[in-house]
Amino acid sequence: MSDKITAPSLKRMRDAGEKIVCLTAYDYPSALIADEARVDVVLVGDSVGNVVQGYETTIPVELEDICYHVRNVRRGLSRALLVADLPFGSYNVSTEQAMESSIRLMKAGADAVKLEGDYGDAIREIVKAGIPVMGHVGFTPQSIHNFGGAKVQGRGDGAEAIIAHSKSIEAAGAFGIVLELIPSELSARITEALTIATIGIGAGPNCSGEIQVWHDIMGLSRKAHKHTKFYTNAREAMLQAAKSYTGDVKKGDFPGPENSF
Ligand code: KIV
Repeated sequence: MSDKITAPSLKRMRDAGEKIVCLTAYDYPSALIADEARVDVVLVGDSVGNVVQGYETTIPVELEDICYHVRNVRRGLSRALLVADLPFGSYNVSTEQAMESSIRLMKAGADAVKLEGDYGDAIREIVKAGIPVMGHVGFTPQSIHNFGGAKVQGRGDGAEAIIAHSKSIEAAGAFGIVLELIPSELSARITEALTIATIGIGAGPNCSGEIQVWHDIMGLSRKAHKHTKFYTNAREAMLQAAKSYTGDVKKGDFPGPENSF
């Protein structure tokens, strides 16, 4: 039987109590590594704006950027589910716009799309067209200016609104939902209240699964945030390699006879 992860697999994993492992990737070599490591879901996130393109926020990311990265990641995956982010401005105008953008992502090679915020009507229509949709609540980076920064959401009064919002996303037909930067106790309540998979980032250990940004777990980001962990220090390793290469070329030690024809 095929081991390929599909949107319905996530509900089965949730129901079986098997944690769902999600990780972002933006290119072919990272996709190959994530798949070999048996990551279940690979997200081509609009975090590409921060960690690859060098922007302060995800707002400048264009739909065409995500399509480009989806095509590259697609070629590296054989098992993981490929979810593609709808970037800011590609679904906010109308349900029709959300449909058209989702179709473009699917034609680029996505298996599902993800969008941030309260867009129940759009989710319903996209699902109706046969495209699995993932929601995203709590701190939603495309609304960073409304939040006044990357801040924990749902403390105190805000909790009920996030629960209600999560339920409406499930009711609209989403197969999963990302819970970002919310207290662990709130993510436990949402996970209990929903029947679909909850995927946390900065949401504690009580979700059906976890998502992290590639550069954050590989130590390619400048600093580890509280909700992330460096599993290796790739930046340091790459810096040392680049310095050694620079030194060798400057000294005339590389290329040597063994590298020459
Ligand atoms: O864009 C992204 O990487 C995301 C995850 C952080 C959930 O949306």
